[in-house]
Amino acid sequence: MALPAEFIENLRSRITLSDLVGRRVKLVKKGGRMNGLCPFHNEKTPSFYVNDADGFYHCFGCGASGDAISWMRESEGLDFIESVRRLADLAGLQLPDSKPEDAAQAARRRTALDILEAGCRFFEASLQKDSAAEARSYLDRRGLDSETITSFRIGYAPSSGLQAALQQRSFDKQMINTAGLSGISERDGSHYDWFRNRIIFPIENRQGNIIGFGARAMGEAQPKYLNSPEGPTFSKKQVLYGWNQARAKVRAGLPLMLVEGYMDVIAVTRSGVAGALAPLGTALTEQQIQLAWKLHDEPVLCFDGDTAGRKAAGRAVLRLLPLLEPGRSVRLASLPEGKDPDDILQEEGADGLTRILAAALGLADAYWQLSQSGFNLAEPGQRAAFWQVVRDGVRTIAHNQVRAAFVDDMEFRIRQMRAEDRAGGLTRGATIAVRRQRPDTGAAVRFRAALALMVHHPQLQTDYFEELTDLNFGTEDQEAMKKACLDAIIRDPDLDAPALKHHLSSLGYDDLIAELDSSDMTRRLGKPAGALLPAEAAARIDEIIKLASTGARRSHKRPG
Ligand code: UTP
Ligand code: MN
Repeated sequence: MALPAEFIENLRSRITLSDLVGRRVKLVKKGGRMNGLCPFHNEKTPSFYVNDADGFYHCFGCGASGDAISWMRESEGLDFIESVRRLADLAGLQLPDSKPEDAAQAARRRTALDILEAGCRFFEASLQKDSAAEARSYLDRRGLDSETITSFRIGYAPSSGLQAALQQRSFDKQMINTAGLSGISERDGSHYDWFRNRIIFPIENRQGNIIGFGARAMGEAQPKYLNSPEGPTFSKKQVLYGWNQARAKVRAGLPLMLVEGYMDVIAVTRSGVAGALAPLGTALTEQQIQLAWKLHDEPVLCFDGDTAGRKAAGRAVLRLLPLLEPGRSVRLASLPEGKDPDDILQEEGADGLTRILAAALGLADAYWQLSQSGFNLAEPGQRAAFWQVVRDGVRTIAHNQVRAAFVDDMEFRIRQMRAEDRAGGLTRGATIAVRRQRPDTGAAVRFRAALALMVHHPQLQTDYFEELTDLNFGTEDQEAMKKACLDAIIRDPDLDAPALKHHLSSLGYDDLIAELDSSDMTRRLGKPAGALLPAEAAARIDEIIKLASTGARRSHKRPG
C-alpha cells in the first residue's frame, strides 16, 4: 500500500521521537539531543542519540540510525505498514485509504516542490538584475547584508516573467498553479503571476525543501505581506518560518524565540543572541507550538507591551496550557509598546534584545499577570472573578502532574493575595513587601519555633494559613521550608506529621528538620514541639504570629 508522502511527513512531524524511544530507552538531555544506552547493541557508555529537531536517532557505537518508522520496525519487529499504523494511532491520525491515485498524488507533490525550488532560484536571480535596484535598496535600508540574503534565499518577484521561465523548463501551466505560483483570472481564465513586485521570503520545511513563500510589498501596496495559497505542499498553520536557521542557533546553545514576522526572524538570527521562528501571519497554532518544542524545551514568546499584545499573549498561553508536559514550557518576553524585535535590534543592538530576553517571565508568573488583564483588582468581586479565570485556565492542563503543580502554584498565589487583602488592602502591597524584606531582629529563633510547630502539628497550618503565608520567616531557607509545608498542606489537608517530615526530607530539608528538635527549641517552647498538646501548640504559634506582626507594625510606623 502506497501512502501519500505528505501523510508520512505529517505523521513524522507529530511524533516526538524522544517520547517514543523513551518508552524503551532511558534518555537524558545532552547538548540539545537526548542520549542513552543503545538498544541495538550492548554498551556501558551511552552512544545512542535521539534528535527531536529532525526526528532521527543515531548510534555512534554500532551505526544504527533512522526515524520514527524505522524505530518501530527495528525495535518492535513490525513491517512498514504496521509501524505506520501504530504511529498514526499514537499521533491520533487516521490512516488514509490507499487509492490508485496516491502514486499520482505523490508525483504531483514532487513536481510542485521542483517548481517551488525553480521559482525560488528565479526570484534569487531576479534580485541581482538591474531592474531590481529598488528592491536591493529596500533590503539595504532594512539592514540586510548579502550574507543574510544568501542564507535566507531572499529574492525579488518582478512584475512578470516567472511563468515564462518555468514553462521554458517544461513545467506545465496547471502545475505552476497547483504549486501556488500563479492565479487564474476569473475574467478570462488567463494565468497571472501570484507574486508581483515584492520581496520574496522562501519558506522551507524541516527537510530544507521550499514549500511556499511570503512576499512583502516594498511600498504601500496591500496586503503588506502576501503568502502562497494553501496547497499540496503548503499549509501555513503547520509551518514556522526559519526552521533550519533556528535549529543551527539552538544547536549552538542559544535560546529560541517565537516572534511575529519574517523580518524579526531574520534580524534575531543575525544578532547572534537567539534563534527565532515565526508563524506566517496567523496566531500560533497548536501544531506550531509542538514544532517549536521539538527544537527547544522552553521557547520565549514575544509580545507587544500594549493592551492588544497582552491580549494576544494571553490567548497564546491559554492555547498552550493544555499541551504542557513536564519540562516543556515557554517563557514570555514583553516588548516596549509598538516595537518588534527587529526594531529593538535596529535601535539598541544585541544588548537591547539580550535585556528583553533576560527579563522574560516564566509561564506561571506570566499566566498570573496576563490573567489580570481586564479586572479591577481593587474590587473584591473582580478579584474573585480573576481567581476564577486563573483556576479555569489551569484546569485545562491535560498532563496530571503538570496540572497539579500549576494548581498548587496558583492556589498559593490566591491565598497570598487574600492574606494581603486582610493585611490592609492591595493599595498597601508595597508596605507588605517592605515588611517581607526586613524581618525584625531576634526573630530567627521564633521562626524556627514556628517551623517546629508547623512540622509537628500540621493542622496549625490550615488554621493559620493566611497568617503564616504573610509572615516572612527571615532566612531564605526557612522561608522556602515554610512555603514547602504550606504547599504540601494545600495538596493534602489531612497530611500528618510523619508524612510531612518525609515529604520535606525528600525535598532536601533534613538539615533544617534536625534543627527543629534542638535543645534551644525545647527551651523556647517549654517542651519538645512534638510533645505539645494541640491546644498548647496553637497557643504558641498564635503568640509567635502576634509578636512578629506587632514587631513589624512598630518598625513600620517609624517615618523614613
Ligand atoms: P507586521 O505588519 O506587524 O510587520 O507583520 P512590521 O514589523 O510592521 O513590518 P516588517 O515585517 O518589519 O516590514 C508581522 C507579520 O505578520 C504577517 C507577516 O508574517 C509579517 O511578517 N503579516 C502581516 C501578514 O501575513 N500579512 C500582512 O498583510 C501583514
Ligand atoms: Mn517589523
